[in-house]
Amino acid sequence: MKQFTSVHDVADVETLVKEALNLKSNPYSDKQLGENKTLGLVFLNPSLRTRLSTQKAAINLGMSVMVMNMDKDGWALETQDGVVMNGTTVEHIREAAAVMGQYCDILGLRSFPKLKDREEDYSEDFFNKFVSYCGVPVVSLESATRHPLQSLADLVTIKETWKGEAKPKVVLAWAPHVKALPQAVPNSFSEWMCKAQELGMVDFTIAQPEGFELHEGFTPGAKISHDIDEALAGADYVYVKNWSSYSSYGQVLPYPEGWMMNNEKLKLTNDAKVMHCLPVRRDLELSAEILDGPNSLVIHEAGNRLWAAQAVLKDLLQNLS
Ligand code: CP
Repeated sequence: MKQFTSVHDVADVETLVKEALNLKSNPYSDKQLGENKTLGLVFLNPSLRTRLSTQKAAINLGMSVMVMNMDKDGWALETQDGVVMNGTTVEHIREAAAVMGQYCDILGLRSFPKLKDREEDYSEDFFNKFVSYCGVPVVSLESATRHPLQSLADLVTIKETWKGEAKPKVVLAWAPHVKALPQAVPNSFSEWMCKAQELGMVDFTIAQPEGFELHEGFTPGAKISHDIDEALAGADYVYVKNWSSYSSYGQVLPYPEGWMMNNEKLKLTNDAKVMHCLPVRRDLELSAEILDGPNSLVIHEAGNRLWAAQAVLKDLLQNLS
């Protein structure tokens, strides 16, 4: 791989999943690979799991790591070309990204959408400019429209825990929330599950209320339902996540009743394992009884963020020119 920004950067998804599980069994097998190599992690938004798991993955590979909280510690960045910078922006992304590329062999970037202008967010303007100006391989730590390290960890978790003969039924289930959240996690999860379905690894359904459909570019081959109870029937994995409306972009719409996953809903499934990327709002998005119960995979899933990140960094290190 030359970069890791979506499932489309991965030549062989099944091999990358296997690599993550191999590294879980033998975390320090490639300690020499990252010697004298530096990973820079650039955050424009908060993070717990992505920050710590990616740092730890790099350490396991023998890399040095530098973290920059760009939103708090960096200069205010200008992204547009041809503007006279006589306002609040202090440094252009052309120089800032290029300079970071001078200090690091691989860079990671987290840049959330602003949820004000759909076309701007979905153009990934900031992210793409950073990639093109920094001059080194980039790992997405979550962009405006995708969170591929999370999705890889999710697929690793399903592959690792599924013991059935037939392929598992995986349901991405919309959940209530009081804020407008990005579509990056569900877009990305759907994209990876659609790829896994194509490879015969899973059977994939998305359940969401009317008005919360994801952009169809992220859902090729997914079964779509507007009836949560119907979608949950026979599910082996339920991936719970809120996302705001793509069609009514950035708006906080009133949330419908009956969409929070709880033990009553679990009875409709095939004793499904329940996943969530975290952070999660208890008893709003997902019931505390599920989070604290035997069907929850959320901590296991977060643990696998480490092995997903390590598999990606290993691949990028092996392909450094
Ligand atoms: N799931 C996830 O990306 O967590 P953080 O936002 O805490 O990194």
